[in-house]
Amino acid sequence: MNKRGPTTLVLGATGKTGSRVAAELVNRGLAVRRAARSGVDVDFEWTDRDTYARALDAVDHVYLVAPVMRTDFADDVSTFLGEAEAAGVRHVTFLSAYGMDHASDEIATRSVELDLQRHGRLGHTILRPAWFMQNFSETFLKPIEGTIVVPTGNGSEAFIDVEDIAAVAASTLADPARHAGAAYDLTGPEALTVSEAAGIIGEAVGHDVVHVDLDRDAWVAGAIANGVPAEYGSVLRHLTETVAFGNGSRPNGTVQQITGAPARRFRDFVSKNAAAWIDSST
Ligand SMILES: NC(=O)c1ccc[n+]([C@@H]2O[C@H](COP(=O)([O-])OP(=O)(O)OC[C@H]3O[C@@H](n4cnc5c(N)ncnc54)[C@H](OP(=O)(O)O)[C@@H]3O)[C@@H](O)[C@H]2O)c1
Repeated sequence: MNKRGPTTLVLGATGKTGSRVAAELVNRGLAVRRAARSGVDVDFEWTDRDTYARALDAVDHVYLVAPVMRTDFADDVSTFLGEAEAAGVRHVTFLSAYGMDHASDEIATRSVELDLQRHGRLGHTILRPAWFMQNFSETFLKPIEGTIVVPTGNGSEAFIDVEDIAAVAASTLADPARHAGAAYDLTGPEALTVSEAAGIIGEAVGHDVVHVDLDRDAWVAGAIANGVPAEYGSVLRHLTETVAFGNGSRPNGTVQQITGAPARRFRDFVSKNAAAWIDSST
């Protein structure tokens, strides 16, 4: 890692947003320290607080991805933020989620948002993105044998391309003073039902892709049977109910306001990533 101006610690650096945030910062000529459990610049394990100090050494800014697939992480993140403040970190950009401003402070992600306000020497920016488009190409919305199974009914969501989240995050980390104290709801440019999204993927791959709106209890039980921690079932239930009940995210112009470029369209995301669906199981 060459020291060129401020150094940003990127947590979750092997993940969907962190990998892209790190790449975007490097593109801008900024110094980056990538952290994940293994295989990048520094080994970092949320459940092992002894790993925090080394990751934070001589760091100026942090891209904060909280522990994934957990609901009990507020204390770990609070300890991390305390150490960050003591180590001289000046800014944290936190990856939260759309609607978190309305969540109970017992929800860990909301608790982290509030905790940031209590760490007065840390400047911060909160990003609250909609559901990621990359869920369709990389994770739980990826079609299997032409079917996307998720209990979202006819509700729509303004899915956002993770590339846009990374571009916004990099802007906040490159110029923290401009974004200090801000909280940004980040969306794509159009609200789509999962059925509409499936149709667009189907056009790209040349065969039908359909949405199946499974009973929510059965769907959550299936996710847990496939390895999702049982405690996380309540989160999956809440996320899908929000969309199914018509309370999904709605498009706004925040990505363009911050990056200067319009938010990427789902159709363009699909064209660019078509290889993700062109295999025998899709
Ligand atoms: N998907 C969506 O639609 C959506 C929408 C809004 C907000 N979000 C939020 O996005 C966040 C996830 O971000 P993402 O999608 O960029 O991440 P991701 O792709 O799920 O990757 C998780 C990252 O965290 C690292 N990690 C996993 N367990 C760890 C541990 N115990 N200690 C340290 N690092 C660990 C992983 O690295 P290794 O496995 O290599 O260690 C990886 O780099 C969540 O907080 C979620 O709430 C998601």
